[in-house]
Amino acid sequence: MRVKIAASILSADFAKLAEEIKLAELAGVDLLHIDIMDAHFVPNMTIGPPVVKCIRKETRLPLEAHLMVDKTEWFIEEMAKAGVDILTIHVESTRRPLPLLRRIRKLGIKPGVSLNPATKVNRIMRLLDNIDIVLVMTVNPGFGAQRFMLETLPKINAVRKSLFSRGLNYVDVAVDGGVNIKTAPLAVKAGATMLIAGSAIYGSNNVARAVKDLRKSVEGVCWEP
Ligand code: DX5
Ligand code: ZN
Repeated sequence: MRVKIAASILSADFAKLAEEIKLAELAGVDLLHIDIMDAHFVPNMTIGPPVVKCIRKETRLPLEAHLMVDKTEWFIEEMAKAGVDILTIHVESTRRPLPLLRRIRKLGIKPGVSLNPATKVNRIMRLLDNIDIVLVMTVNPGFGAQRFMLETLPKINAVRKSLFSRGLNYVDVAVDGGVNIKTAPLAVKAGATMLIAGSAIYGSNNVARAVKDLRKSVEGVCWEP
């Protein structure tokens, strides 16, 4: 399976968002990852539905919104209206994730579920049939340019194994946080099928080169269960 690369715009220059998005598009990323933070669920704040709506008009790349918010429920309809293709919610943000994931699907959007480094993998097991992405946080959410937590590698493997044993091979295992040319191969070996990178792409002065290097770093690397 070809590993997908998502550019996380958290590390882009928000004042030049359209240009930054174009750069990622030209570099051949597979999708854009948009971090939605509310200063409650995580100690940082980013953008909301109106900006996502503007981004939608700027690119044909698939958009994934990563909700790091307390009121996950409120954001679902808003993000649907804003035109996202994938909507990832945090399992820690709601007591009842399943109805929310079903609602996302009903709105014609691919549902994803994310879990923090401290969250046990069994929290998402019963959700696997209802999602298209498991987003394993490889840093504590809130900020870009943190160090990849190597202790999350067994969790990535456990998720991929569970999906495989259930025949859910269409579900992507995404890793988010500290992904770069050194950590990407480790993540793919552990079972990641999607690499989400912010600072490794936008922190570089050559976005095209950064994406190319990231792709090259996982060339020929396979999941080792
Ligand atoms: C962090 C966000 C990430 C962030 C990753 O909470 O969810 O998407 O942009 O940034 P890097 O790749 O710099 O660690
Ligand atoms: Zn994210």
